[in-house]
Amino acid sequence: MKFKLVPICVVSILFVLNSCQYNVESMLYGTSDCPTIEATYQSHIAEIVDSECAGCHSGSDPSGGLSLTNYDQVVAAVSYNGLADRIQLPMSDPDVMPPNGGLNACELAAILDWVENGSPF
Ligand code: HEC
Repeated sequence: MKFKLVPICVVSILFVLNSCQYNVESMLYGTSDCPTIEATYQSHIAEIVDSECAGCHSGSDPSGGLSLTNYDQVVAAVSYNGLADRIQLPMSDPDVMPPNGGLNACELAAILDWVENGSPF
């Protein structure tokens, strides 16, 4: 009895560990599940920046002196304020934006693809 249970336990533990690992990996790197999009500022980027960044980067005293409330400001931040670098930093980096690393893999991929495509409006 004892000996029969051991392999069953080992197999179930491996199964559980394996599924955890799979989940973590797909969360970190799994952009293959993202919808394939030709992101434009109006179609996708404005919505992401509004919900994830504008809470701090807007108003009369925006965080870091950086406003991210319209196309020109976001494009300028990509060119002059290292926007694309800041959103790609690991969550443990104090410079990551948003500060809690709150962009999900698809939002990150959408912004990076958009920048790579020349930031279409
Ligand atoms: C909770 C508030 C908060 C949110 C949300 C936030 N930021 Fe920031 N951001 C800051 C603060 C504070 C600074 C200034 C300190 C620093 O540079 O880390 C800053 C600085 C920056 C800078 C550098 C500005 C410069 O010229 O030095 C960039 C670029 C930036 N944020 C982009 C973003 C983007 C893009 C998002 C959304 C994906 C975002 N931030 C979301 C608070 C925030």
